[in-house]
Amino acid sequence: MAYFKQNTGFFSVIFGLFWLISMVITVNGIGANWGTQCSHPLPPDVVVRMLRENGIQKVKLFDADYSTLNALGKTGIEVMVGIPNDMLSTLASSGKAADKWVSENVTEHVKKSKVNIRYVAVGNEPFLATYNGSFLKTTFPALQNIQNALVKARLNNQVKVTVPSNADVYASPSSMPSGGDFRDDIHGYMVQIVKFLSDNGAPFTVNIYPFISLYIDSNFPVEYAFFDGNATPLNDGGTSYYNMFDANYDTLVWALQKNGFGNMPIIVGEIGWPTDGDINANVKYAQRFNQGFMTRTANGKGSPMRPGPIDAYLFSLIDEDQKSIQPGNFERHWGIFTFDGQPKYQLNLGTTNLGSLVRAKGLTYEERQWCVLKPSVKLDDSRLAPSVSYACARADCTSLGYGSTCGDLDARGNISYAYNSYYQINDQDDEACKFEGLGAITKSDPSRDTCRFPVMIEPSDNGSELMFPVSGIRSCFFSISILFLTMFWL
Ligand SMILES: *[C@@H]1O[C@H](CO)[C@@H](O)[C@H](O)[C@H]1NC(C)=O
Ligand SMILES: *[C@@H]1O[C@H](CO)[C@@H](O)[C@H](O)[C@H]1NC(C)=O
Ligand SMILES: *[C@@H]1O[C@H](CO)[C@@H](O)[C@H](O)[C@H]1NC(C)=O
Ligand SMILES: *[C@@H]1O[C@H](CO)[C@@H](O)[C@H](O)[C@H]1NC(C)=O
Repeated sequence: MAYFKQNTGFFSVIFGLFWLISMVITVNGIGANWGTQCSHPLPPDVVVRMLRENGIQKVKLFDADYSTLNALGKTGIEVMVGIPNDMLSTLASSGKAADKWVSENVTEHVKKSKVNIRYVAVGNEPFLATYNGSFLKTTFPALQNIQNALVKARLNNQVKVTVPSNADVYASPSSMPSGGDFRDDIHGYMVQIVKFLSDNGAPFTVNIYPFISLYIDSNFPVEYAFFDGNATPLNDGGTSYYNMFDANYDTLVWALQKNGFGNMPIIVGEIGWPTDGDINANVKYAQRFNQGFMTRTANGKGSPMRPGPIDAYLFSLIDEDQKSIQPGNFERHWGIFTFDGQPKYQLNLGTTNLGSLVRAKGLTYEERQWCVLKPSVKLDDSRLAPSVSYACARADCTSLGYGSTCGDLDARGNISYAYNSYYQINDQDDEACKFEGLGAITKSDPSRDTCRFPVMIEPSDNGSELMFPVSGIRSCFFSISILFLTMFWL
């Protein structure tokens, strides 16, 4: 009996340790950005199931959509809700508006539907140099009003404010991380915001994009963008930097340190690589970059200045075909999944024992039919160019450019691609394949090689019946592991 008892004790210690370890992994695990600027968004329940089956325990949103938050209820998934830049001026000028925002978009979900909201992102890269300071006056007062509203709602210990910033808010005149400081034109302003975040125990959130560096500068050494690259390291007073991410991240660490905030927690709000829309936006590079980052993350490896685990959110979970392409055609192709939740490449997040991504389930597709240029139409028909412009302006032709997945199509293929995109975005409405008689519907898939002519998913019901019994079991284990964690803590 005594022997048996001892054994049980031993096993529960092992069991407890196991869950303690799994909790640590879960808490430090990877997050994902979930944007919804899609013509055919996946139903929130389908996305939440994808998150869980892929072991993604943190999600960052760009707004506070009701049904999205509702689907995240009782899942334990940590949520960062977002305030779009166009709401900042209202929230800056009225404490009441901020109270209402927090009450409707935070308190309600935390209390009623048990959503694990942990952060409110006030604005999205509001200090981006290309915004010419448009949000400079409103961001700080909006931040203060939201923080006050969280205090009034007694949620300020659980929910922290932050301002996701582009890495362009800091720079290093010497090009060395140790020369890092906030950008000259907003220096005083940034210090004020960082002090406020620090006073309230809130983190600094930064988006870091080696891809953009490569995109805007053709002399950027490609290998330096990757974690396994063989670029000549940058020597910063004896510290070697082998990749751009570490150098950029540490430039921020130095900037914070220089201004008296050396211990401020940092969240990497966005990190990723697009798969289409530019010569360097392809599956091979995206796989290499994201896998490199995930392998480091799974090993808990940080930067030279902050060697511990990095808290980060992949950009992005799924492709968004309605995003503005002002930054470039790649903007609609950041997903590790396609718009319909299919993995684009092999990626081991280190969060499940499957070692690869798990696709979305329970979707219904439109019919397998496409709109193409009628074969009898002559290529010198003067109606062609305007019809293609019309379709591309309203649909998505970002895969057609040089070096993109459909960059090798001939003139007919190009026109068909544009027509089909417009037809599918309009849910295969017959009218959307007319083009003054130039279009024709076909049952034969025009896709070839890397070039996909997609068929959309049907606008679906809320899909709540799709919830898996397994999720119940998982959240039960989750609670048990928290229990063990608490036991070990005490
Ligand atoms: C809550 O968030 C949603 C989505 O971002 C927004 O449309 C709405 O105006 C917000 N509510 C308030 C009271 O501000
Ligand atoms: C910023 O200024 C530039 C040059 O003055 C202008 O072209 C651009 O449209 C402005 N952008 C915004 C967002 O105001
Ligand atoms: C196809 O369209 C793309 C983008 O509009 C263009 O760059 C390319 O030259 C076109 N190709 C042909 C063969 O017309
Ligand atoms: C969502 O699903 C529930 C249960 O299947 C149903 O009662 C409800 O009407 C649905 N709501 C919407 C907006 O489709």
